[in-house]
Amino acid sequence: MLIKSRKSWHLGEGEVTPESLYLRRRDFMKLGGAAAMAAYLPAMAKAALEPLRDAIAAAPTTRNLHEDLNSFEDITSYNNYYELGTSKSDPSRNADALNTDLWSISVEGECDNPGTYAVEDLVQADLLEERIYRMRCVEAWSMVIPWTGVPLSSMLEKLKPNSNAKYVAFETIYNPDNPLPGQRFPVLDWPYREGLRMDEAMHPLTLMAVGLYGKPMPNQNGAPIRLVVPWKYGFKGIKSIVKIRFTSEQPQTSWNLSAPHEYGFYSNVNPNVNHPRWSQATERRIGEFFRRDTLMFNGYGDEVAHLYEGMDLRENY
Ligand code: MTE
Repeated sequence: MLIKSRKSWHLGEGEVTPESLYLRRRDFMKLGGAAAMAAYLPAMAKAALEPLRDAIAAAPTTRNLHEDLNSFEDITSYNNYYELGTSKSDPSRNADALNTDLWSISVEGECDNPGTYAVEDLVQADLLEERIYRMRCVEAWSMVIPWTGVPLSSMLEKLKPNSNAKYVAFETIYNPDNPLPGQRFPVLDWPYREGLRMDEAMHPLTLMAVGLYGKPMPNQNGAPIRLVVPWKYGFKGIKSIVKIRFTSEQPQTSWNLSAPHEYGFYSNVNPNVNHPRWSQATERRIGEFFRRDTLMFNGYGDEVAHLYEGMDLRENY
């Protein structure tokens, strides 16, 4: 992954939206400010998320994190989405290249309910919740993001994985006849692929997200539907998912295929295990000047450490 110069991180304090202001902004939007705000919103997934739009706006905040949120601007303009380009500003600039009009998700493999699903078939509107998660990128920067989504477990239960299903694999959209701008280059072996062990996928913290800041997911953040696993490095959060496959074997993942010594299957945030080319001990929160210490499992250890009991996390990086 490309490392940006430090300068791009030196955003002013004013660009961080404190949580209290955001919560007030939600009230403002409910009172009719949405039209005014829409003027500066980036490309949003229109068609695929239309049936969920109101439910996304109304989703209750169930998991609050008492840290300042990053601004909507930061979250939608500083992105990694290699299908839309490799620089941090490419995904927002190329966001319109992603068309979510005819979106479907194909479900395959070790389950009783394979098939082709629309987003709203898999994401139950009344289960949508807003969760404010700390996100840590392997490139040693972090953000705090208010996602809206459903627990991945609620989706997977509908699909009825069978007893052979030990892992779940995901794929991002890729049409070789009509590639997204970044897919014209062999930067990764397309399509982008990711996977989780079944117990990680079923963990209550693992979210399938369809929105942020109470809005349908912007294209550059992975519209219409993307994974969010807050105790793992950001690259596990695969965007714009078109395929879910239940497998008995550990699936291949894009970054592991591209650089196996640098990116492992587990990719848990771990300040004690450095990336071969840089330290993971500290991070820069986008919008802040000083570095902070990176927390084991990104601070979610109480909830997830038991998943890895007895495993050597240096070997299983
Ligand atoms: N998903 C796809 N399909 N393509 C990508 O290039 N980048 C990953 C992840 N998901 C990526 C992806 C990486 S490296 C990170 S850090 C996060 O998306 C960034 O998510 P964000 O842009 O919403 O912050």
